[in-house]
Amino acid sequence: MCNEEFHTFKEDMYKKVTASMEDYIEMIYRLSKNNGFVRINELADKLHVKPSSVTKMVQKLSELDYIKYQKYGVIILKSNGYKLGKNLLERHITVENLLKILKVSNKDILNETEKIEHTLNDNTYKCISKFVMLVKNNGDLEKFLDNNL
Ligand code: CO
Repeated sequence: MCNEEFHTFKEDMYKKVTASMEDYIEMIYRLSKNNGFVRINELADKLHVKPSSVTKMVQKLSELDYIKYQKYGVIILKSNGYKLGKNLLERHITVENLLKILKVSNKDILNETEKIEHTLNDNTYKCISKFVMLVKNNGDLEKFLDNNL
């Protein structure tokens, strides 16, 4: 069984996080990886939403203690937010890799990943993650799938 060493991806404290919050935290994590922070405007830009919507969500996320919101629109992840963001980005990349392995058309991969990633429960995610690792670590299997799908 792929999930025999079960451990939770989302601990209890993360259960109230909505799909939209996940998108924000994943993007904040991506954008602040280099500098350690991201600004409201940059986030609005990348998420294709209005700065005023970002401000609202940022307030919510800071009440939940995932981020620290500072002067001049500067957003910094707190340790829970950092941990969650790292997991969310890993999950995104894993789903994206699965779709690539399955030869889903390139033009659909990003959109489909964005939909699928939020709907997986911990067990399914673990199973997918194990499968992707298995393929990635086995050149023959990877080649076989690539040639036959
Ligand atoms: Co994503």
